[in-house]
Amino acid sequence: MRIRIASSYFEMSNAAAKLIAVQVRRKPDSVVGLATGSTPLGTYRELARMHRDEGLDFAEVRTFNLDEYYGLAPDHPQSYRYFMNENFLRHVNINPKNVHIPNGLAKDIEASCVEYEASIRDAGGIDVQLLGIGRDGHIGFNEPGSSLGSRTRLKTLAQETISDNARFFKSLDEVPRFAITMGVGTIFEARHIVLLASGVEKSDAVKLAIEGPVTTEITASALQLHPRVTVFLDEAAAEKLKRKDYYKYVESMRQVVGQGDV
Ligand code: GLP
Repeated sequence: MRIRIASSYFEMSNAAAKLIAVQVRRKPDSVVGLATGSTPLGTYRELARMHRDEGLDFAEVRTFNLDEYYGLAPDHPQSYRYFMNENFLRHVNINPKNVHIPNGLAKDIEASCVEYEASIRDAGGIDVQLLGIGRDGHIGFNEPGSSLGSRTRLKTLAQETISDNARFFKSLDEVPRFAITMGVGTIFEARHIVLLASGVEKSDAVKLAIEGPVTTEITASALQLHPRVTVFLDEAAAEKLKRKDYYKYVESMRQVVGQGDV
């Protein structure tokens, strides 16, 4: 696990965008796993800027989103499909045919989840997967207790997640109680996983995910077993890490050997 601590949300977002840009330039038809939530917004903004100002080309990029609320239509302003269009997809030259987001209105949920997994496999697997983290340590919508081998499925949201996400809805009652999410096992198959966290309210989850035991109680802790994970944090999110100074030292040493950005 590589831990990169940035001085601000802005710096963190730009560093994460740079990593994605390097991947897309190296492999123009990269398969990129995308996340929603407020955390990756700065990364999406910077990627859109790179597209506009530096010609970063998304024409062949294929994307798979982590999750979608169950019961929300794609044009519902709180659906993740709508979020992705507004905050990223419509700002770059991505081919709509290459965009995959779980179907929140699927009639046959199980079949649609199996199909989602198959389309990831058919695309050759995910090259780089962006992730945020919930305050309860979830990734995607894999709430505490989710199997670390879980696949794409319908998940009942935890109360904490429902109240955290209520800020985007008119009232608590409107927050969906279910979501379709890639499983921890699905996420784990990505070749490179990039987790972003910002703000002191994420610092406990970050500490448990990185330095705590691997447990279904904190589904992000499964990432400790993955061979290639990069965690981007701002200072506030990194605040409770026991080895924070060591992680910074490691990064400064990587600069010395010219491995700062890779
Ligand atoms: C939701 C999403 C997660 C996201 C989390 C944190 O639960 N399903 O993918 O990481 O929210 O969101 P935020 O970045 O807004 O704190």
